[in-house]
Amino acid sequence: MLTSGGDAPGMNAAIRAVVRTGSYYGIKTFGIRRGFHGFLKGEIDGLDNRDVSEKLQRGGTFLQTARSESFNTEDGVVRAVEMARVFNLDAVVIIGGDGSFRGARDLAHKGLPVIGIPATIDNDVDCSDYAIGFDTATNTAMEAIDKLKDTASSHERCNIIEVMGRQAGHIALNVGIACGAEVVLIPEIAHTIEKNLIKPLLDAKNRGKRHYIVIVAEGVGDTIKMAEIIESMTGIESRTTILGHLQRGGSPSARDRQMASFMGIHAIECLRDGKSNRIIAYQDGSILDIDIDEALKAYKTISAELVKRAMILSL
Ligand code: F6P
Repeated sequence: MLTSGGDAPGMNAAIRAVVRTGSYYGIKTFGIRRGFHGFLKGEIDGLDNRDVSEKLQRGGTFLQTARSESFNTEDGVVRAVEMARVFNLDAVVIIGGDGSFRGARDLAHKGLPVIGIPATIDNDVDCSDYAIGFDTATNTAMEAIDKLKDTASSHERCNIIEVMGRQAGHIALNVGIACGAEVVLIPEIAHTIEKNLIKPLLDAKNRGKRHYIVIVAEGVGDTIKMAEIIESMTGIESRTTILGHLQRGGSPSARDRQMASFMGIHAIECLRDGKSNRIIAYQDGSILDIDIDEALKAYKTISAELVKRAMILSL
């Protein structure tokens, strides 16, 4: 197995589950270091039950990860398939996001069986309601924003917090609800500065609010500039905090440990049952597996109901 793309809390729990489920069913498992990059270099070694002891509660990925350009080249894919033959690998479990699964699909089309396990704090794996790491990242952002709220209140300021998510607004919307934000801006929903930022802040001020939290998903745009605009158009003193990579670290939450563990078990059970080229997904409360080509055609939208609830609660 390998971990690929940005790390996510709970990846270690998934690796542990794959190793221990493999051991339970008599399937030998190997760890590939540094993602696809290490795969091409043959950085591959056997993993046993004791190698994954004390990993469950650790953030990051002890196998390490990389964003490898060669995952998306024909030459890279061919070399990876050859490397799998060198180590006698029957299948590769890839723990990562949709970008990594596109590389996995190319491996599958070249004859190397794959299984994908969704893991990214962005929660933007289209075929799955949930990706490992999202809960921990959302909680990490929430704790940071609660602290910023204290100082926003003391100074009667507006604090703008930029959260991660690439082109997705799942962290922003969910943490906005959890922290009682006055405004949440996400890339999936069209907005204008006047209508969706300045007007709600002035409305809140006129209703008697004296401090304000604005959550902005990183895919939306320049949050430093937003603070300047808010100050000049409303007179409310404003500060920007970009939470950045701290959202990727930390010990995984109970939810992430459980989801990662159950997805890891399901991945190996697919292989035991002779199924491959599947993505493990969480849909409507169940863990299941989907054909990789179908999984990559899926399209996940932001829940309109969640957006409405965030708006109601901000009043
Ligand atoms: O995909 C996870 C993520 O943390 C995104 O939210 C963010 O846009 C990106 O990775 C940052 O990537 P890097 O770690 O390469 O700077």
